[in-house]
Amino acid sequence: MSNYENTLRLDGWSTTLVFAWNDGIPVVIYHGEKLQSGIDLGVLADIHARPFTQASLDDNSPISLHPELGRGFLGHPGLIGHRVKSDKPGWAGQFVFARRIDREHGVTFGMIDAVRGMEMEIVCDLDPETDVAVFATELFNVGDSPVSVDWLSAPVVVPAQQYSQHLSFHGRWCAEFQIERQPIPMGLTKRENRRGRTSHEAFPGLILLNAKTDDESGPCLGMHLGWSGNHRIVLERLSTGDVQVQMGALLFSGEGMIKPKQSMKTPSIYVAHSSNGLNALSQKFHHHVRKNILKFPVPDKPRPVTVNTWEALYFDHDHSRLCALVDAAADIGAERFVLDDGWFRGRNDDTSSLGDWYPDETKYPNGLGPLAEYVQSKGLDFGLWIEPEMINEKSELFQKHPDWVLGLNSYPNMTGRNQLVLDIANPLVSDYIFETIAPLIENHQIKYLKWDMNRDLVLPGDQSGRANVYNQTGALYALMDRFLKAFPTLEIESCASGGGRVDYGVLAHTHRFWTSDSNDSVERARIQTGFSHFFPPELMGAHIGPAWSHTSGRGLHAGFRALVASYGHMGIEADLTKMSDEDREIMRDAVTRHKQDRAIWHTGKFYRVRTVDYGLIGALSVSVALDQARMVLMQLERPRSTIPPRIRVPGLNKSAVYKVRIQTMTEQVKKANRSFPNPIFNGGFELTGAALETVGLGLPSLYAQTGLAISIEQVGEQ
Ligand code: GLA
Repeated sequence: MSNYENTLRLDGWSTTLVFAWNDGIPVVIYHGEKLQSGIDLGVLADIHARPFTQASLDDNSPISLHPELGRGFLGHPGLIGHRVKSDKPGWAGQFVFARRIDREHGVTFGMIDAVRGMEMEIVCDLDPETDVAVFATELFNVGDSPVSVDWLSAPVVVPAQQYSQHLSFHGRWCAEFQIERQPIPMGLTKRENRRGRTSHEAFPGLILLNAKTDDESGPCLGMHLGWSGNHRIVLERLSTGDVQVQMGALLFSGEGMIKPKQSMKTPSIYVAHSSNGLNALSQKFHHHVRKNILKFPVPDKPRPVTVNTWEALYFDHDHSRLCALVDAAADIGAERFVLDDGWFRGRNDDTSSLGDWYPDETKYPNGLGPLAEYVQSKGLDFGLWIEPEMINEKSELFQKHPDWVLGLNSYPNMTGRNQLVLDIANPLVSDYIFETIAPLIENHQIKYLKWDMNRDLVLPGDQSGRANVYNQTGALYALMDRFLKAFPTLEIESCASGGGRVDYGVLAHTHRFWTSDSNDSVERARIQTGFSHFFPPELMGAHIGPAWSHTSGRGLHAGFRALVASYGHMGIEADLTKMSDEDREIMRDAVTRHKQDRAIWHTGKFYRVRTVDYGLIGALSVSVALDQARMVLMQLERPRSTIPPRIRVPGLNKSAVYKVRIQTMTEQVKKANRSFPNPIFNGGFELTGAALETVGLGLPSLYAQTGLAISIEQVGEQ
């Protein structure tokens, strides 16, 4: 018996999504590798029929795009809420299919529950070029009393294949994007974030895969919630064997109140499928970000090499030292100079002054003008650090407006890095922030804001005491947009103690992530690997830090630090004026090479390189025309063998002939190899793309914390 009378398919370039429905919320009956055109969707719907098993209900309740308790779905429902102050509590019900609005590459399904006075819209789009589906749910209150929502999931993802494992991305400060691979357990697994920012701890992304799936092969289905506030991920394996994933904003009690005639829309969830491993999955996400989310004010402008003052000078701002750093930055070829924390009134350490966005009169007696002009006179863009959502009790702003702080007045507030959080959903507060910072941007031609956010939210109550993280997140996006609208060439970096606010939600309003506060290249290489699952390299702020990392205590050679930073959006965050001549030459070389190669890294197809040696990892980018590639290989720990494993190079044009050579290698690689009579070590060699993919490269011996960059240039056809 066919279960469904109606079907609809959406196609990407290698993915198909098939929806089916009768009178209820549609179900995804297929989400996977592209199906042939003309396939009979009715038959697909027929073969989706499932047996009725013993001791079960007399009607199968499939997991719809929004599974409902009222239709017999006994797993985690898509909506948890009720109508307050009403004789129809509406805590459960049944949505009835009402309409469908087709778009060229998408559809909106509309459903009504007349008894509960609620309507629901489920929006689904599949970009045919990027192969990424974007889903969101909107719940409308069409009754005459408020609806209180505890949970509203974005459309639920039900994988077409039976995946057995999942990758999640957890972490902490200086150790973001740590990957954990686990079985999908029976029952319900929840990952929740209550920190008020995307968080270092629980990145809102998940990848389902099989035991054999790796970067280069095997099926996988990746998903990410574009949201920078609190979130919840529900992963559930039911007794039927079905797996569902729900993602949405985590709402504190009372936060999800929908007034009559109003609605609540979930953040978007981005879903992509790959039959060919995790690299192909990431390439789809990267493509989608580049095409649909990221909006650089000047689209083709190369990402400027940045010098940032933080790990060079910290709070110690002095005009002549800053100018010396600007000189050194210009000398090695930097293109942007970012004045980090320490520039505003009274800010000499992290105990005071957040909120007082006026140049410190002692350090900057004539304001920021002289420094900004000096930076610009050397041909660099000027950028400024701000942390606008925050306030210190020790500040003029707090003296005037203690009531602007998020909190619950009856209880003592808790500081984090000595600071409290402003209620930026209050228009008076966001106006103050805009009106104090905008003149600085205007008067000093500031091209870049490093927008920081250095603490978790605790007891985030607004003036009436209601929980306010959800609104705070929307207010953040609106405030960023206000700056971008007023200053159309401005770029914003999303920083929250490093990688604490990295997601597609904030990315629609920003242009770069400060990936992590760890500039320790050993830690950084792994963080960058995790980051690359969802984000392309041009977004990955990657700085060459000082010789000794202040966040880990580890010391590393300049060449290795430069190598690890070279494949992101590169910068330097160390005191160039105090470096040895030799190290400064390494910086200059790194900047020159990055400028030559950045178009390949920032527009090409990115591949993670993994080897049988857990400590030897790499990054590869192949240009769009397939005529060039760059590979960075990083030996993070003592190698497990004296001779490194061969490195296969995927993604090239199989019939093209390429010249392969070592572009640069860290100082110690030379020492590690008494002799290495391999052409790669002696000027390079030529080979076809096919052979490079199957045979691979032989590498010199590597010590721990060394590495090399390889260039691959097409020289002909076979
Ligand atoms: C945070 C940022 C750093 C730096 C400091 C300044 O920790 O992540 O990059 O800007 O604040 O206080």
